[in-house]
Amino acid sequence: MTLGKGTLLSAASDTKAVTPPDIRLRKGRAPLVCLTAYTTPIARLVDRHCDVVLVGDSVGMVLHGLPSTLGVTLDMMIMHGKAVRRGLERALMVVDLPFGSYEEGPQQAFRNAATLMAETGCAAVKLEGGEKMAPTIAFLAERGIPVMAHVGLTPQAVNAFGGYPVQGRGADADRVGRDAAAVAQAGAFSVVLEKVPEQLARRITAEIAVPTIGIGASPACDGQILVVDDMLGLFGAFKPKFVKRYAELGGEAEAAIAAYADEVRGRRFPAAEHVFGDTLKNVAAAGPTGGEAA
Ligand code: KIV
Repeated sequence: MTLGKGTLLSAASDTKAVTPPDIRLRKGRAPLVCLTAYTTPIARLVDRHCDVVLVGDSVGMVLHGLPSTLGVTLDMMIMHGKAVRRGLERALMVVDLPFGSYEEGPQQAFRNAATLMAETGCAAVKLEGGEKMAPTIAFLAERGIPVMAHVGLTPQAVNAFGGYPVQGRGADADRVGRDAAAVAQAGAFSVVLEKVPEQLARRITAEIAVPTIGIGASPACDGQILVVDDMLGLFGAFKPKFVKRYAELGGEAEAAIAAYADEVRGRRFPAAEHVFGDTLKNVAAAGPTGGEAA
């Protein structure tokens, strides 16, 4: 595998696992493709198409119905991380450190990041925060824990922000710029930039030495990430402006469920082909998983 300009790490035939240094080397090259995953079946679907698969703490809102990411625990991240690990062969797996598991200081962050890596087999962790988190990022990076940083809108700070507003507009741009520079300087191998204006994303991407991965941060970034349930149309609670729906699976799933309910009530399901008789017939034709004997 070469990592020359324009090379896709996502080639389906290449089963060498992507590493944090591979991602670091993608600065200014072919765009990084990143998605979240929380389960084995979704991990299997995204693996061959993505460079990075993030087990995001968005799992709390998307799969557990929590009102924010604040209620997500380390145990939840471990459980979903283990499930995703079983579905990945080549994409780099990154797991979020949840709220309250790293902010006290570098030692707490190291202990919990090491637990996440040992329990889930992930190769890197992500944590939210800029300048204030730089010493923690340096501490982890110097001890063998690759860190993806996350600046701009950091959802774990929802109460401090009073919601999920765009960050870094006007005079606020320098603050976000300093955050990105500090985490890159501290040793993060990539930086998620969330919900910032295009001009700022372009400036940060030009200024820092590691790839920027945008979510609501324009095409100026070195890569893009979306929450997989958002882009598949499976999460319907709200749709941020930066989400593009590539499918409407939520609507399709509900139509299928409604059809099933209708057929059960109308006694049209199960039909003859779903019913077992009391003699063996057509077993060979039905194949190994079908037929009456199955
Ligand atoms: O938790 C998450 O899914 C994230 C991405 C949206 C970047 O942090």
